Amino acid sequence: MATITWLSHASWLIETGESKIILDPFLSDNPTATIKAEDLVGVTDILISHGHFDHIADAAVIANKNGATITAIFEIAQWFADKHKVESTVGMNIGGAAQTAWGTVKMTPALHSSQLPDGSYGGEPAGFLLNIEGKRIYFACDTAIFSDMKLYAMGVDVAVLPIGDLFTMGIDDSVAATKMLGPARVVPSHYNTWPPIEQDAQLWADQISQQTSAKPVILPVGGSFEL
Ligand code: NI
Ligand code: MN
Repeated sequence: MATITWLSHASWLIETGESKIILDPFLSDNPTATIKAEDLVGVTDILISHGHFDHIADAAVIANKNGATITAIFEIAQWFADKHKVESTVGMNIGGAAQTAWGTVKMTPALHSSQLPDGSYGGEPAGFLLNIEGKRIYFACDTAIFSDMKLYAMGVDVAVLPIGDLFTMGIDDSVAATKMLGPARVVPSHYNTWPPIEQDAQLWADQISQQTSAKPVILPVGGSFEL
């Protein structure tokens, strides 16, 4: 059984077996996070979707303190190794999959941008399709809606989709993406961190319930669900 916890914004904690995986850690300078990067112990893996600060801010600190492996697109993995002395990195690329101690991670396309904070080229932005204990969970990460999503993530057990708008898809496109993917459950992400991406999650959930067959799962910051 895997437990998935929303750490706020686009930061997620996945606990399965002996593994503790953080996706897109942005905690210490995040106005809505309830834990700081230094509070995290026993982290084994960090997944990074793209180079923007609100997805990588605490990755190097967590990796170096916990001895965690950073998995990201090749350019970002290299950047953490070169610029932040992260010892264990796995560089991959869109469409590729990697076997890990805790399951399979496949890197999926995302329609977004991806410059690193120091201006370095961050490769292409990505999402992740994880297969954990036979269950599939799709983290679309920062992206617009695009029809190729269904080539990767049709019929997943859980889809985690952004709803904040402005930088990513908003409520309407998130509902449309859910219609297209047909997940059993859908979970909102990347919203309510700052005023420009404030959203009414209940409004989103009502539309999901009315227009799709998926079950919407709204989490409070720090809230969890079982995969
Ligand atoms: Ni971004
Ligand atoms: Mn973002």
